[in-house]
Amino acid sequence: MPPDTLPAQPGRWLWTCRAGFEPHLFEELAWAGASPRMLGEVLVESEKRPAEPPAFARTGIRVVASFLAGQPSEQLAQSIASRVTEAVPTGPLVLQSFTPDSPAGNRLADEADAVLEAVRTRLPADRLLEETWRARESGATLVELCVAPGVVVVGSVPAREALSLSPGGRQRMRRPGDAASRAAMKLEEALVSLPFEPGRGEVCVDLGAAPGGWTQRLVARGARVIAVDPAKLIPELAGLPRVEHIQESAFAYTPEEPADWLFCDMAWRPIEVAQLLAKWGRRGWATHLVANIKLPMKDKNPILLRVRHILVEEGGWQALTIRQLYHDRDEVTVTAHRTS
Ligand SMILES: C[S@@+](CC[C@H](N)C(=O)[O-])C[C@H]1O[C@@H](n2cnc3c(N)ncnc32)[C@H](O)[C@@H]1O
Repeated sequence: MPPDTLPAQPGRWLWTCRAGFEPHLFEELAWAGASPRMLGEVLVESEKRPAEPPAFARTGIRVVASFLAGQPSEQLAQSIASRVTEAVPTGPLVLQSFTPDSPAGNRLADEADAVLEAVRTRLPADRLLEETWRARESGATLVELCVAPGVVVVGSVPAREALSLSPGGRQRMRRPGDAASRAAMKLEEALVSLPFEPGRGEVCVDLGAAPGGWTQRLVARGARVIAVDPAKLIPELAGLPRVEHIQESAFAYTPEEPADWLFCDMAWRPIEVAQLLAKWGRRGWATHLVANIKLPMKDKNPILLRVRHILVEEGGWQALTIRQLYHDRDEVTVTAHRTS
């Protein structure tokens, strides 16, 4: 990879991903006929946005302009502000900056903050929306400044279509003090992307639940949880009236009544897990699905294609999303629902 990032071309799409996953993102974009080009560490550009958002993209923006680093900061900020105003002439804006999530990118964090502030002061204050969480309902445009080695890329996307409202798709979740596992943050991040979450009294089945991080987060929301795992749960969960631990394999388990939510974080082979989740869909055993699929193999995209096919065609799961979230490592998170 060259030390400096190649400038992204206006009108094309800029995608960012987890470090080391560029080849997978590139391949997905190529398979979608989007003519990708590698720009630098964790940054891939494509001619168009595929119909299905790429699973390995943390976020994507339509490129407004690229500016080579090295010009005086005042001039750079003025040029960026002018291009943003031309490209997005009306409506509220959420302005953010990010650096590529790589060692070289992370060293530019202070510079990214400085550019952001300098541009912010040059845009009309009444157009800047500070409450990012209101961006979608306000019809705002997300404007991102990607401050990368050797170049600043400016891009935008309507907030309603954005893969993430966090700068560069880095949706960092706080690990709850009592969390049984790091996995709790994966669940919290997955739930942020959904329009609603499990609530009081709803029945959740948690396949591969031990040691209990997901179950804890679901119980905290008032749900009743059936935790299925041959391994032990942490003792704090064992005695709770709203938690039932079925200490057996998820492949052997049959629910007594349909669940509102099916959660799955089983450390098991992805195709077999997808087939199990498809069985749940086909039999109408759950309405909503949130599953973490492990992808330790080198060739991930062919597996993901099969997982998608099994869930949709064999399982009848609808509105399927597959995304590698910020807290996902060699894994992706699937969400879906089904109507009876
Ligand atoms: C990553 S851990 C799950 C962490 C959990 N979500 C949490 O928040 O604490 C993976 C779990 O999958 C379980 N597992 C593997 N094969 C399974 C199977 N056939 N049925 C049920 N659980 C299984 C393992 O026992 C392990 O506890």
